[in-house]
Amino acid sequence: MRLDKFLANAGIGTRSEVKTEIKKKHITVNDCIIHDPGTAVSDKDVVCYKGIPVGAKKPQYFMMNKPSGCVSATQDEGRTVLDYLKPEDRRDVFPVGRLDKDTEGLLLLTDDGMFAHNLMSPRKHVDKTYYFDGEGILEPHAVKQMAEGIDIGDEKLTKPATLSIISEDIATRKVSGTLTISEGRYHQVKRMLAKTGVTVVYLKRISIGDVRLDETLAKGQYRSLTEEELHLLSKGRSNK
Ligand code: URA
Repeated sequence: MRLDKFLANAGIGTRSEVKTEIKKKHITVNDCIIHDPGTAVSDKDVVCYKGIPVGAKKPQYFMMNKPSGCVSATQDEGRTVLDYLKPEDRRDVFPVGRLDKDTEGLLLLTDDGMFAHNLMSPRKHVDKTYYFDGEGILEPHAVKQMAEGIDIGDEKLTKPATLSIISEDIATRKVSGTLTISEGRYHQVKRMLAKTGVTVVYLKRISIGDVRLDETLAKGQYRSLTEEELHLLSKGRSNK
Protein backbone atom coordinates (compact mmCIF):
# COMPACT_ATOMS: atom_id res chain seq x y z
CA MET A 1 0.00 0.00 0.00
CA ARG A 2 1.15 3.58 -0.64
CA LEU A 3 2.60 5.29 2.44
CA ASP A 4 0.24 8.28 2.26
CA LYS A 5 -2.77 5.97 2.10
CA PHE A 6 -1.43 3.86 4.98
CA LEU A 7 -0.98 6.98 7.15
CA ALA A 8 -4.40 8.36 6.25
CA ASN A 9 -6.01 4.99 7.06
CA ALA A 10 -4.22 5.00 10.42
CA GLY A 11 -5.84 8.36 11.23
CA ILE A 12 -2.73 10.55 11.01
CA GLY A 13 -4.60 12.98 8.73
CA THR A 14 -6.08 13.43 5.28
CA ARG A 15 -4.04 12.38 2.24
CA SER A 16 -2.84 15.99 1.74
CA GLU A 17 -2.12 16.47 5.48
CA VAL A 18 0.04 13.35 5.62
CA LYS A 19 1.94 14.57 2.54
CA THR A 20 2.79 17.71 4.51
CA GLU A 21 3.95 15.58 7.45
CA ILE A 22 6.15 13.57 5.08
CA LYS A 23 7.66 16.82 3.71
CA LYS A 24 8.38 17.90 7.30
CA LYS A 25 10.42 14.68 7.71
CA HIS A 26 8.08 13.44 10.45
CA ILE A 27 7.65 10.00 8.91
CA THR A 28 10.16 7.15 8.99
CA VAL A 29 9.89 3.67 7.59
CA ASN A 30 12.23 1.19 9.20
CA ASP A 31 14.14 4.10 10.76
CA CYS A 32 14.71 5.92 7.41
CA ILE A 33 13.16 9.33 6.75
CA ILE A 34 10.87 9.01 3.74
CA HIS A 35 10.29 11.79 1.22
CA ASP A 36 8.07 10.04 -1.31
CA PRO A 37 4.36 9.70 -0.31
CA GLY A 38 4.04 6.93 -2.88
CA THR A 39 6.59 4.67 -1.15
CA ALA A 40 5.16 1.15 -0.87
CA VAL A 41 4.77 -0.19 2.68
CA SER A 42 3.58 -3.54 3.95
CA ASP A 43 2.64 -4.78 7.43
CA LYS A 44 6.25 -5.97 7.84
CA ASP A 45 7.50 -2.35 7.81
CA VAL A 46 7.71 -0.25 10.96
CA VAL A 47 6.18 3.10 10.10
CA CYS A 48 6.68 5.87 12.67
CA TYR A 49 5.13 9.33 12.98
CA LYS A 50 7.31 11.63 15.10
CA GLY A 51 9.08 8.53 16.40
CA ILE A 52 5.90 6.71 17.49
CA PRO A 53 4.92 3.54 15.66
CA VAL A 54 1.79 4.06 13.58
CA GLY A 55 -0.90 1.45 13.76
CA ALA A 56 0.53 0.13 17.03
CA LYS A 57 -2.46 -0.79 19.12
CA LYS A 58 -3.16 1.45 22.13
CA PRO A 59 -3.35 -0.54 25.36
CA GLN A 60 -6.88 -1.30 26.54
CA TYR A 61 -8.19 -0.84 30.07
CA PHE A 62 -11.73 -1.85 30.98
CA MET A 63 -13.82 -2.13 34.11
CA MET A 64 -16.55 -4.74 34.12
CA ASN A 65 -19.37 -5.43 36.52
CA LYS A 66 -18.76 -9.17 36.56
CA PRO A 67 -21.91 -11.24 36.90
CA SER A 68 -21.88 -14.48 38.86
CA GLY A 69 -21.74 -17.69 36.83
CA CYS A 70 -18.69 -16.89 34.69
CA VAL A 71 -15.02 -17.61 35.21
CA SER A 72 -12.31 -14.92 35.42
CA ALA A 73 -10.10 -16.54 32.79
CA THR A 74 -9.47 -16.24 29.08
CA GLN A 75 -10.44 -19.86 28.42
CA ASP A 76 -12.71 -22.34 30.13
CA GLU A 77 -15.20 -25.04 29.26
CA GLY A 78 -17.92 -22.76 30.60
CA ARG A 79 -18.57 -19.06 30.19
CA THR A 80 -15.66 -16.66 30.77
CA VAL A 81 -15.64 -12.94 31.41
CA LEU A 82 -14.25 -12.44 27.88
CA ASP A 83 -17.57 -13.69 26.49
CA TYR A 84 -19.06 -10.39 27.64
CA LEU A 85 -16.62 -8.31 25.55
CA LYS A 86 -17.32 -7.18 22.00
CA PRO A 87 -15.13 -9.20 19.59
CA GLU A 88 -13.09 -6.10 18.71
CA ASP A 89 -12.27 -5.52 22.42
CA ARG A 90 -11.21 -9.07 23.08
CA ARG A 91 -7.81 -9.16 21.39
CA ASP A 92 -5.03 -9.99 23.91
CA VAL A 93 -7.21 -8.83 26.81
CA PHE A 94 -7.20 -10.76 30.08
CA PRO A 95 -8.72 -10.27 33.54
CA VAL A 96 -6.54 -8.58 36.16
CA GLY A 97 -6.61 -11.14 38.97
CA ARG A 98 -9.48 -13.48 39.69
CA LEU A 99 -12.90 -13.40 41.20
CA ASP A 100 -14.66 -16.66 42.06
CA LYS A 101 -17.31 -17.87 39.66
CA ASP A 102 -20.05 -16.84 42.07
CA THR A 103 -18.49 -13.46 42.97
CA GLU A 104 -19.81 -10.34 41.27
CA GLY A 105 -18.56 -6.83 40.84
CA LEU A 106 -15.48 -4.87 39.87
CA LEU A 107 -13.17 -6.68 37.51
CA LEU A 108 -10.44 -4.94 35.50
CA LEU A 109 -9.44 -6.25 32.09
CA THR A 110 -6.44 -5.17 30.06
CA ASP A 111 -3.84 -6.23 27.52
CA ASP A 112 -1.14 -4.38 29.49
CA GLY A 113 0.84 -6.96 31.44
CA MET A 114 2.79 -4.45 33.51
CA PHE A 115 -0.39 -2.66 34.61
CA ALA A 116 -1.87 -5.98 35.74
CA HIS A 117 1.31 -7.01 37.51
CA ASN A 118 1.54 -3.73 39.40
CA LEU A 119 -2.00 -4.13 40.69
CA MET A 120 -1.93 -7.80 41.56
CA SER A 121 1.58 -8.45 42.80
CA PRO A 122 1.32 -9.38 46.50
CA ARG A 123 4.18 -6.96 47.16
CA LYS A 124 2.14 -3.97 45.97
CA HIS A 125 -0.56 -4.33 48.66
CA VAL A 126 -3.39 -2.77 46.68
CA ASP A 127 -6.57 -2.65 48.77
CA LYS A 128 -9.60 -4.49 47.46
CA THR A 129 -12.97 -4.02 49.14
CA TYR A 130 -15.75 -6.60 49.05
CA TYR A 131 -19.36 -6.31 50.10
CA PHE A 132 -20.73 -9.54 51.61
CA ASP A 133 -23.95 -11.05 52.86
CA GLY A 134 -23.38 -13.92 55.24
CA GLU A 135 -25.05 -16.41 57.50
CA GLY A 136 -23.91 -17.01 61.05
CA ILE A 137 -22.88 -15.01 64.06
CA LEU A 138 -19.67 -13.04 63.89
CA GLU A 139 -17.24 -13.71 66.70
CA PRO A 140 -17.22 -10.84 69.20
CA HIS A 141 -13.67 -9.79 68.30
CA ALA A 142 -13.97 -10.33 64.54
CA VAL A 143 -13.06 -6.73 63.66
CA LYS A 144 -9.93 -6.89 65.83
CA GLN A 145 -9.02 -10.34 64.55
CA MET A 146 -9.25 -9.17 60.93
CA ALA A 147 -7.14 -6.11 61.76
CA GLU A 148 -4.46 -8.25 63.38
CA GLY A 149 -4.41 -10.95 60.73
CA ILE A 150 -5.87 -14.42 61.06
CA ASP A 151 -4.84 -17.99 60.46
CA ILE A 152 -6.80 -19.37 57.51
CA GLY A 153 -4.64 -22.45 57.18
CA ASP A 154 -1.91 -20.94 54.99
CA GLU A 155 1.75 -20.62 55.83
CA LYS A 156 1.31 -17.06 57.05
CA LEU A 157 -1.41 -15.11 58.82
CA THR A 158 -3.45 -12.85 56.56
CA LYS A 159 -2.31 -9.24 56.28
CA PRO A 160 -4.31 -6.69 58.31
CA ALA A 161 -7.82 -6.30 56.90
CA THR A 162 -10.67 -3.93 57.69
CA LEU A 163 -14.06 -5.39 58.54
CA SER A 164 -17.03 -3.01 58.67
CA ILE A 165 -20.34 -4.45 59.80
CA ILE A 166 -23.35 -2.94 58.03
CA SER A 167 -26.03 -5.05 59.70
CA GLU A 168 -26.11 -8.01 62.01
CA ASP A 169 -29.20 -9.87 63.19
CA ILE A 170 -28.46 -12.48 65.81
CA ALA A 171 -32.03 -13.88 65.68
CA THR A 172 -31.97 -14.62 61.93
CA ARG A 173 -28.19 -15.19 61.90
CA LYS A 174 -27.83 -12.78 58.96
CA VAL A 175 -24.93 -10.40 58.65
CA SER A 176 -23.71 -8.03 55.96
CA GLY A 177 -20.69 -5.80 55.70
CA THR A 178 -17.53 -4.97 53.84
CA LEU A 179 -14.07 -6.44 54.12
CA THR A 180 -10.99 -4.71 52.72
CA ILE A 181 -7.97 -6.91 52.07
CA SER A 182 -4.64 -6.18 50.43
CA GLU A 183 -3.81 -9.69 49.25
CA GLY A 184 -5.40 -12.01 46.73
CA ARG A 185 -5.31 -15.47 48.24
CA TYR A 186 -7.61 -18.22 47.04
CA HIS A 187 -11.17 -17.67 48.36
CA GLN A 188 -9.61 -15.26 50.82
CA VAL A 189 -12.68 -13.28 51.89
CA LYS A 190 -14.83 -16.38 52.25
CA ARG A 191 -12.14 -18.15 54.27
CA MET A 192 -11.50 -15.16 56.54
CA LEU A 193 -15.18 -14.75 57.29
CA ALA A 194 -15.63 -18.49 57.80
CA LYS A 195 -12.89 -18.34 60.43
CA THR A 196 -14.84 -15.67 62.30
CA GLY A 197 -18.15 -17.51 62.25
CA VAL A 198 -19.83 -16.49 58.98
CA THR A 199 -20.58 -18.33 55.76
CA VAL A 200 -20.59 -15.95 52.79
CA VAL A 201 -23.71 -16.33 50.66
CA TYR A 202 -23.16 -13.31 48.39
CA LEU A 203 -19.92 -11.55 47.50
CA LYS A 204 -19.29 -8.49 45.36
CA ARG A 205 -16.06 -6.54 44.86
CA ILE A 206 -16.81 -2.85 45.09
CA SER A 207 -13.38 -1.24 44.80
CA ILE A 208 -9.75 -1.72 43.87
CA GLY A 209 -7.38 0.89 45.28
CA ASP A 210 -9.18 4.23 44.96
CA VAL A 211 -11.37 3.11 42.05
CA ARG A 212 -14.95 2.09 42.78
CA LEU A 213 -17.22 -0.04 40.66
CA ASP A 214 -19.35 2.15 38.39
CA GLU A 215 -22.77 1.13 39.69
CA THR A 216 -24.42 2.32 36.45
CA LEU A 217 -22.90 -0.75 34.76
CA ALA A 218 -25.42 -3.57 34.68
CA LYS A 219 -24.11 -7.05 35.41
CA GLY A 220 -21.97 -8.15 32.46
CA GLN A 221 -21.53 -4.59 31.15
CA TYR A 222 -18.14 -2.93 30.86
CA ARG A 223 -16.55 0.33 29.83
CA SER A 224 -13.10 1.82 29.33
CA LEU A 225 -11.42 3.20 32.41
CA THR A 226 -11.34 6.99 32.49
CA GLU A 227 -8.00 8.85 32.49
CA GLU A 228 -8.58 9.66 36.14
CA GLU A 229 -9.25 6.04 37.10
CA LEU A 230 -6.14 4.96 35.21
CA HIS A 231 -4.14 7.57 37.06
CA LEU A 232 -5.56 6.44 40.43
CA LEU A 233 -4.66 2.84 39.68
CA SER A 234 -1.19 3.63 38.37
CA LYS A 235 -0.02 6.25 40.85
CA GLY A 236 2.81 5.18 43.06
CA ARG A 237 2.54 1.55 42.04
CA SER A 238 5.53 1.28 39.74
CA ASN A 239 8.19 1.72 42.40
CA LYS A 240 6.47 0.37 45.50
N1 URA B 1 -12.27 -13.60 48.09
C1 URA B 1 -13.10 -14.63 47.85
O1 URA B 1 -13.37 -15.44 48.72
N2 URA B 1 -13.62 -14.74 46.61
C2 URA B 1 -13.38 -13.85 45.61
O2 URA B 1 -13.90 -13.99 44.50
C3 URA B 1 -12.52 -12.78 45.90
C4 URA B 1 -11.97 -12.68 47.14
